[in-house]
Amino acid sequence: MISHQLFNDGTRQWYYFGRDPNKPDTLIDTNQYLVVTNGEGLLLDPGGLETFPAVVSILSKEIELSKIKLIFASHQDPDIISSLSLWNGLLPGVDVYVSWLWSTFIPHFGGGQALKSVPDEGMTFNIGGTNDLTLIPAHYLHSSGNFSLYDPRAHILFSGDIGAALLPPGESKFFVEDFHQHTQYMTGFHRRWMPSNQAKMKWIQRVRDLKVNLMCPQHGSIFRDQDVIRFLDWFEELDVGSASK
Ligand SMILES: [Fe+2]
Ligand SMILES: [Fe+2]
Repeated sequence: MISHQLFNDGTRQWYYFGRDPNKPDTLIDTNQYLVVTNGEGLLLDPGGLETFPAVVSILSKEIELSKIKLIFASHQDPDIISSLSLWNGLLPGVDVYVSWLWSTFIPHFGGGQALKSVPDEGMTFNIGGTNDLTLIPAHYLHSSGNFSLYDPRAHILFSGDIGAALLPPGESKFFVEDFHQHTQYMTGFHRRWMPSNQAKMKWIQRVRDLKVNLMCPQHGSIFRDQDVIRFLDWFEELDVGSASK
């Protein structure tokens, strides 16, 4: 698994973990992110049971594990949070935040600890003496209770499954390099997994109001600068919820 620092202004750092060459082919590839503020960590979509050892191993090179104060799951899927019981075992008492819709479903992944419910309108996280990391509603994209996370300091948007690409082996570019070429890896995914054009337009409007330098999805390559705008324009045009027979 590789590690990549996406941002550092001295008090806040963003790290990427993923692209594990030893991952079994039976698993979809996932991107994990860590935001550190004044030494305290917020882990975003920590991943599944199978990738847990690799994530812990690489993560612990960047932060002392006891400094991870919060875990956020954008939605309920196994590739997002089936590692819950292992994280609870490793970090007893860590606060795990999920949409209130999923707060009594996700504990079926185990761990025996109550989750913190995020209200539909979103919230901000208190971490490292700051409260600017903001959850933006992204409901129905693709989960009924789903959020993106925006960092107004780093101008980074963690977008979960929005912007996800299913990259073939050998095409796993870290950043999107050729947007037009990249759309072939996103079109089927978004048409099938995103059920609502109305929800899509609401999210796009919210994101267009933000300054976003990096848009970081949970699968596939990261979008930079103008490619973020290209993605929003492409997504706006795409008729979603229309791919099934
Ligand atoms: Fe998902
Ligand atoms: Fe996913």
